[in-house]
Amino acid sequence: MSKTRFLSGITPSGTPHLGNYAGMMRPAIAATHDPQIENYYFLADYHALIKCQDPARVHRSTLEIAASWLAAGLDPERVTFYRQSDVPEIPELHWMLSCVTGKGVLNRAHAYKAAQDANQASGRESDDGVTAGLFMYPVLMGADILMFNAHKVPVGRDQIQHIEMARDMAASFNHLYGVHFTLPEAVIDEQVATLPGLDGRKMSKSYDNTIPLFAPRAQLKKLIGSIVTDSRAPGEPKEVEGSALFQIYQAFATPEQTEALRQAYADGIAWGEAKELLFERIDQGIAPLRARYEELMAQPAQVEAILQAGAQRARASATPFMQQLRSAVGLRHLAQGQPATKTSKTAKTQLPSFKQYRETDGKFYFKLLAADGTLLLQSLAFAQPKEAGQAIARLQQEGLAAISALHESLDAAGIDALTQALQSLAAAAQ
Ligand code: TRP
Repeated sequence: MSKTRFLSGITPSGTPHLGNYAGMMRPAIAATHDPQIENYYFLADYHALIKCQDPARVHRSTLEIAASWLAAGLDPERVTFYRQSDVPEIPELHWMLSCVTGKGVLNRAHAYKAAQDANQASGRESDDGVTAGLFMYPVLMGADILMFNAHKVPVGRDQIQHIEMARDMAASFNHLYGVHFTLPEAVIDEQVATLPGLDGRKMSKSYDNTIPLFAPRAQLKKLIGSIVTDSRAPGEPKEVEGSALFQIYQAFATPEQTEALRQAYADGIAWGEAKELLFERIDQGIAPLRARYEELMAQPAQVEAILQAGAQRARASATPFMQQLRSAVGLRHLAQGQPATKTSKTAKTQLPSFKQYRETDGKFYFKLLAADGTLLLQSLAFAQPKEAGQAIARLQQEGLAAISALHESLDAAGIDALTQALQSLAAAAQ
């Protein structure tokens, strides 16, 4: 069985905090141990340019985030871990996708609409300060995902719309140029904790209530000291419900430790003492990772080498895939044959045609029928619709020359009739 491919991006525009760790990094790293899953994680540094135009910050954040993932246990042997800007095929695909994406679709993107609404609310022109980069954000994200034909994209709820747009881009492209892309799906993990921040609201950069994941001990202690609590005195029983301190503790403790703290709340533990317990718990969990993080931060060349190796792996599939896509849209060597493209309706009825279908065995097949319906070519089973689509695309583009390359998956009826059919398809495409 072929593996399910997961892909996710992290925008390097800040310093990772405990909420990122518990809500995203830790579960994502745990998922890399599932042998049924193939993982692609990348630093979306082109995306960072949309919201951050401070070069030093983008540069530093890229190192911090890469080092954080590695320190948190991401194994670059298990995961294709790379930086978006090291894969030039991604911006190239971004352009192709922007040519199959309706502008009206992008007008409806939440992030763009929110920027417009904010402008209108404060009496400014609606596109004030909105860059074309922000407007195109979903297309770049689509390119990230479709470049590697990811099946699943784990994201927060705010990103679901972007995944739906990526699906639409894939479907439009496939419709125009043959089946090249897998339609991706968003994965929302309902189990994953969203950690509260210092003020009790969700821990987030935008609320300025975060605890940096690798804050030095002294800073960690100070920040934990500033978590809001109610005014109950030592000895008074305390509520775990709605206690940010308790929730953060729970994210870093075993069930037994959590139970013990629940009991301590009921027994009236002093807030100062509960904060001390939380500090010790987090520090104990994070300290080994922090040491590794500091080591990596001191050796940026080592982090760079890991990202370069990841980019090389990513490009091993991106480069040939891009070649295939370029050819599909008509950007090809002038001496190569013409690919079959859409033909007018009347012409189509008189032409041989490819039919793609799925059998009850769950596998994917195609056949080539002559204009009169005679079966000319029957494919064997493909595990993925994309593979069948790619074989068709190859036959359309290369004609008979593709048969030998594809012979293992084909069963040709009569070579003469087949030759004729492929020739007439190629002629119709001229
Ligand atoms: N937009 C995502 C975020 O801000 C980051 C991102 C960029 C991404 N490209 C992606 C996530 C592709 C998943 C897949 O969180």
